[in-house]
Amino acid sequence: MLKVENVSKQFPGVRALRSVSLEVNPGRVHALVGENGAGKSTLVKIISGAQPPDSGRIIFNGQVFEEYSPSYASAYGISVVYQRQQLVPMLSVAENILLGAQPRRTRFLIDRSATYRIAGDLLNRLRVKVDLRKRVAELTPALQQEIAIAKALYRQAKLIILDEPTAALGPKQIERLFELIRDLCSHGISILYISHHLEEIFRLADRITILRDGRLVTTQSTSDLTQSAVVNLMAGHDPQRVAEPAAIPAGMAEANSEVPMEALVAEEALLEIRGLTAGPVLRNVSLSVPPGQVVGLTGILGSGTHDIAQVLFGLMQPVSGEVLLEGTPFTARSPQEAIAQGVFLVPENPARDGVVAQLSIAQNISLVDLPSITRFGLLQLREEAQTAQKYVSVLRIAAPSIMREVSKLSGGNQQKVLLAKALQARARVLILEEPTQGVDVNAKEEIHRIVRELAATGKAVLVISTDIRDLLLFTDRMIVLREGQIVDDLSAEEADYTQVLNLTLGVGESE
Ligand SMILES: Nc1ncnc2c1ncn2[C@@H]1O[C@H](COP(=O)(O)OP(=O)(O)OP(=O)(O)O)[C@@H](O)[C@H]1O
Ligand SMILES: [Mg+2]
Repeated sequence: MLKVENVSKQFPGVRALRSVSLEVNPGRVHALVGENGAGKSTLVKIISGAQPPDSGRIIFNGQVFEEYSPSYASAYGISVVYQRQQLVPMLSVAENILLGAQPRRTRFLIDRSATYRIAGDLLNRLRVKVDLRKRVAELTPALQQEIAIAKALYRQAKLIILDEPTAALGPKQIERLFELIRDLCSHGISILYISHHLEEIFRLADRITILRDGRLVTTQSTSDLTQSAVVNLMAGHDPQRVAEPAAIPAGMAEANSEVPMEALVAEEALLEIRGLTAGPVLRNVSLSVPPGQVVGLTGILGSGTHDIAQVLFGLMQPVSGEVLLEGTPFTARSPQEAIAQGVFLVPENPARDGVVAQLSIAQNISLVDLPSITRFGLLQLREEAQTAQKYVSVLRIAAPSIMREVSKLSGGNQQKVLLAKALQARARVLILEEPTQGVDVNAKEEIHRIVRELAATGKAVLVISTDIRDLLLFTDRMIVLREGQIVDDLSAEEADYTQVLNLTLGVGESE
């Protein structure tokens, strides 16, 4: 159905794709994997007409692409469902699905009843239950994604490209998406599926294409591969990398050595939340985190986990209750106030609020700690560069230079820049929202290790995530929230995936 032939693409200083070829068969799920910056999204942009290749060609259903534009690709039946949807938030579900191609009564009059009927039929076929009149802004990310898929189908998509579709989904919603994908395939629609979650790929995909540094490594049947083989092929068999993780440079980890030793011994809380009520869901939440601990906070969307982060970072004001930092009352009316008191938040979506996309990697990192690299009011560029260079190598940020604009980095590498900012922030309390989302397997392990090492220097780390499996790998404790309340607080050693999952969903309890 789709043939990619010797496609190359170069950006200033980066060869994003070097003569990549692959074929996608009708009615199949074809996975595309590779480390952060390997070239996956670039390939997607070319296939979907968002960018032209420098050389090579795309053949779809026997037709050679003569033009690279999104409308051209979509006229041929290629649709991309992005991580961040391109739906119009203020329009209804039905309007979004038919947008730009709505049935008309006359040239100027849209046929509303037909719009709703067609959208309703389509969603019924997909077994999506949603009020057609609802504004898309009010829907969960999972439903928004299903609406985007419905929209692709209305445009007669024959190939649907999903770029990290499960990033914002809970476990139940992932199952639902998989059903939908299988259903689409049984109707002859092909899926190009991009994900860093190899277990998803092994469940879904018929074939896997692996990219490394813009080059095609191999395409093979899933049944001929194992997850660890894929990891090795992605990384390019570099045993050194696995055996010898780069140490956190001196000065980075012990940035906050003023935590008194007694505190460590006494296990006194570094962060304590008492009876916190805030926002639409949080009710009377209490928890405490001693220095040196990594605590996972998990719950489904709307459970209140993110609201706790918002309160701690000065973005939401509590209605009642209090927060203590080393026993001293803490209030913050803005992120600046929170940072000044030693609380730093790494938000979930770097593109939205974590990094300044127009600034370079180096500038982004130094922004969080200007005083330490400023002398007599002047920014010390050499120090800025050295600091940035350290993080680029420790976190393996793939970029031709530390002067590269963050907006030009791949998704996973933007996430790593954000983490570098957190490391540089010298916070006592670190809150990480979905820190490994969109990050490749090897970088994930690296992040786990860095978080553990940071905690070991006496910080309190709160990790907020819906990825329970991931949390279990590097937290000491798991706190489960449901409907704004803590339903359990278990040691990560005792906890197992299904148990925590059921707690988040409220399943299997004797009430
Ligand atoms: N507009 C751009 N300008 C300059 N460089 C770019 C641009 N877009 C992508 N790149 C570079 O091309 C390379 C491939 O990026 P791409 O986004 O395709 O990676 P990816 O495989 O999707 O990674 P991730 O898993 O992190 O999403 C990266 O080195 C990236 O920095
Ligand atoms: Mg990408």
